[in-house]
Amino acid sequence: MEQYAIKGGNPLVGDVEIGGAKNAALPILAASTMTDETVHIENMPDVRDINVLLGAMQGIGVLVKRTSRHSAVLNSGNINNLVVDTEGIKKIRASYYLLGALLGKYKRAEVALPGGCDIGCRAIDQHIKGFRALGAEVTIEHGMIKARAERLVGSHIYMDVSSVGATINVMMAAAMAEGKTIIENSAKEPHVVDLANFLNSMGANIKGAGTDVIRIKGVPKLHGSEYTIIPDQIEAGTFMFAAAVTKGDITVKNVIPKHLESITAKLLEIGCEVEEADDCVRVVAAKPLAHTQVKTLPYPGFPTDMQPQITVALGLSKGTSIVTESIFENRFKYVDELIRMGANIRVEGNTAIIDGVDRYTGASISAPDLRAGAALVIAALSAVGFTTVDDIKYIERGYEDFHIKLQNLGAQIELVQTEREFQKFKLRVG
Ligand code: EPZ
Repeated sequence: MEQYAIKGGNPLVGDVEIGGAKNAALPILAASTMTDETVHIENMPDVRDINVLLGAMQGIGVLVKRTSRHSAVLNSGNINNLVVDTEGIKKIRASYYLLGALLGKYKRAEVALPGGCDIGCRAIDQHIKGFRALGAEVTIEHGMIKARAERLVGSHIYMDVSSVGATINVMMAAAMAEGKTIIENSAKEPHVVDLANFLNSMGANIKGAGTDVIRIKGVPKLHGSEYTIIPDQIEAGTFMFAAAVTKGDITVKNVIPKHLESITAKLLEIGCEVEEADDCVRVVAAKPLAHTQVKTLPYPGFPTDMQPQITVALGLSKGTSIVTESIFENRFKYVDELIRMGANIRVEGNTAIIDGVDRYTGASISAPDLRAGAALVIAALSAVGFTTVDDIKYIERGYEDFHIKLQNLGAQIELVQTEREFQKFKLRVG
């Protein structure tokens, strides 16, 4: 079984290049099925969730040619099946983006119910409400969501919660509906904007993405496009917090600093220095970390996908910090692992009360989900002694070459397959 073997204690220092945003790439790839013409995608991250989605798209007849590790040419002119039900697709959340995309273009689709990280109840009622408002009949049967419509007709939809997935799905279907759709209380995340920009580059008419009211005039046909995906806000934030936790100095390159403002603000608050340039940010952690309070919120608030990373940092700060998770109800599962490394954290409902300790100590731990897995790796990189991290398949869902990027910053981390390889790693790094 693959594990990360880690020896902690080295401050991470140097430059790291951030890849394309997974959570933008997933809907953009799904939306590429909405035209019969060829679509060229650049800056696509080479991570497991993307590869699973591309595999499912090939399964329904999409021609996918990888032109390099980070770019692909896709043609959906010969889609021969509107039922998406591969084994892999059930494991990723973004499978349901094919529902919005195929429903928009073909007025009919069936997709296996989504999985994704186990971070609490992940309802899809707002997706269904949106599709129904556009005139689709939607049912859930035998583990599949089925949607079909004679005609899709624009509508005025108020989202009861700010949902990234529902906003994206309804936006895709509405892009090819007849007439005008207004989505109120829409999600404002950068990946929602990136998808709208991509759809517009294919001839859609979408205005207001990035605000809480999106206006869409449906078009009958979309055309081919060449598009470059935005940098990954959460991969960038993870490395920014890696600098804070390991008392390092990291320049995070190829980012959009505006997307990182809530993360930067918290790093400044806990005593890090942050320098911004056009497309990079440098984080220096020269002073002891200070305590703070943080509540996760939809964009532009502090992202839930950065909650474990900030908790790991606050676990090493002076004093008592409070972290409140307001998006997902079960996103503190990793805290038990952090406690095994010496953290002093109490979870009450959706709140973690953190009394900072001087240091973590290495232990044998497991990644419970994608972002928590990455956060635990960072904790281990600051810890005294050796750590093994199991279940790294979760981390590989969303971080490309995570351990290699960390090694390039001076981390002592290796991928090992066996206990023997772990022992060899220990001997080698001392
Ligand atoms: C997206 O999930 C991301 N996933 C998540 O990232 C991220 O944590 C989340 O947005 C919040 O930013 C992808 O983009 C593939 P939501 P999504 O719909 O779309 C409730 C990662 O680590 N809700 O915005 O599933 C829901 O229960 C992953 O990369 C409803 O009630 O999130 C939650 O409380 C993990 N009804 C809140 O809204 C619905 O129909 C936000 O969920 C839909 C959602």
